[in-house]
Amino acid sequence: MSHPGLGATPAVAEQRLCALEDIPDGDTRGFLPSEHNEDRLFAVRRGGTVRVYLNSCPHTWGPLDWARHKFLAAPGGDIVCFGHGARFDVQSGACTAGVCLGQRLISVPARVSEGVVYLPAVLPTSPRQ
Ligand code: FES
Repeated sequence: MSHPGLGATPAVAEQRLCALEDIPDGDTRGFLPSEHNEDRLFAVRRGGTVRVYLNSCPHTWGPLDWARHKFLAAPGGDIVCFGHGARFDVQSGACTAGVCLGQRLISVPARVSEGVVYLPAVLPTSPRQ
C-alpha cells in the first residue's frame, strides 16, 4: 500500500526576487523600497552566485547605501556601509573592518534557478524594522 506524500520533501514557500540578469555582475542592486524610499534588502552578484542581505548595518541598523543600488567600496569589492565606513565580506556578511567587527549583516537565503533569483516567502527582519 502506498502512502501519497510519504517521504516527499515539503515545498518551501518562496517568492521571485528578479531575473539574475537584473543584477549587474560584480555589482549590487537594492530591492523592496520602504515608504521612506529605502531599499529593505540588497543583492550582490558574482557570476551565477547571488548573496542577499537586509539593508541594515549592525552598527545602528540604518541603511548601508549612499545612493540607490550603491553598496560596494569599489566594483567587485567588499560591501561598505556609508554611515561610518564598516566593511563586510560579500560571501558571509561578516564585518571585516570598522565599528562592527564581530557582527554581521542579516542574510536572506537566496536561490538561483534557471536565471531567476528566489527568496523565502517570509523575510527576516532587522531590529530597526
Ligand atoms: S551605520 Fe554602518 S558603520 Fe555606522
